[in-house]
Amino acid sequence: MTILINPRDGNQIEFVLRRLREDEAVALPTETVYGLAARALSTRALARVFELKARPTFDPLIVHVLDWEQLESLQLVEGYTPVHQKLTRAFWPGPLTLLFQKSQRVPDLCTASTPYVALRAPSHPVFRKILENLKEPLAAPSANRFKSISPTCAQDVVDELGPFGLVAVVDGGVSSKGIESTVVKVLSNDQIEIVRQGAISQEDLISCLGASTRVLVRKSGSGAVLPKEHEAPGQSAIHYAPKKPLYLLNEDEVVAFLNNSSWTQVALLEIFPSHIQHPAIRRRECLSPSRFWSEAAARLFATMRLLDRDPRIDVLLAVRCSSEQLGAAILDRLERAAQKH
Ligand code: TXA
Ligand code: MG
Repeated sequence: MTILINPRDGNQIEFVLRRLREDEAVALPTETVYGLAARALSTRALARVFELKARPTFDPLIVHVLDWEQLESLQLVEGYTPVHQKLTRAFWPGPLTLLFQKSQRVPDLCTASTPYVALRAPSHPVFRKILENLKEPLAAPSANRFKSISPTCAQDVVDELGPFGLVAVVDGGVSSKGIESTVVKVLSNDQIEIVRQGAISQEDLISCLGASTRVLVRKSGSGAVLPKEHEAPGQSAIHYAPKKPLYLLNEDEVVAFLNNSSWTQVALLEIFPSHIQHPAIRRRECLSPSRFWSEAAARLFATMRLLDRDPRIDVLLAVRCSSEQLGAAILDRLERAAQKH
């Protein structure tokens, strides 16, 4: 039985700190999605994370620190540049993860034996309180089983990892961003690579670094960090997948798709409102009726879970949105959840 922890109860937080110090993994809220946290500098604690998630060890973990000061004092990284500093000043604490050259102190298991460690400073007050008390960094992948949908509330975590022996989840409410952090690698003074699209858009990064900055975007499924035969699951083609089939279609393809298929219990998942009508559509969920990207991103995973649970629904049809702003991160998740057709 997973214990639901109330973050306002000092004794319960003490329990969480104790379990973490004993190299146990505990689920914690972040502003992006819930994370399965464990001591980043302990190989034993990291192994527990991989085991609970059934995650292959070739997929590296993100390390969470309190702030730039903690990052420097722990001497986890080498070779940080003015660009790293500019980005952390603009976006920390918050949903930006940066790749740094790792020092000896970071276990190879954490970085999938690559020379880079991914670091971010979360802004969620509960996660920060834990980091402050622990005085050491926590590795935390999203608190879901491998390839499943990331959890954005404590109950989603219990559903995902409870059956596999998760000890506790700290209930910090609903994650406000609802989509994972953006992972960035600094390539040079005027060139960065988006390794994973996320809650900070390419437009946000450019407005911080200047319009002359070149931004490369790593293609999902390229598996560039890892051996070709093992794509990084964070980057892999199938990920964020509901149990029911999900198709991603352009708005003008939906009616023809339904006319040519035998699906009769269809849920339509729209990012913004559309005019699509078809008798097979039994339920429609629009992520942001007023067309706000942040609202759409915040509701994406929770809505996918909701439709996946609805017994009246056999299939999810997501309607493609534009790739500007957070549309890029939303499309990345939907593309990886979708069936090829
Ligand atoms: O918002 C987030 O980032 C959440 C919360 C809990 O902080 N965490 C998260 O972790 O999304 P996870 O493990 O589900 O995704 C981590 C991804 C990897 O799959 C990979 O794409 C990238 O981050 N990553 C991590 N370390 C890396 C490295 N050393 N080199 C390249 N990519 C890395
Ligand atoms: Mg994940």
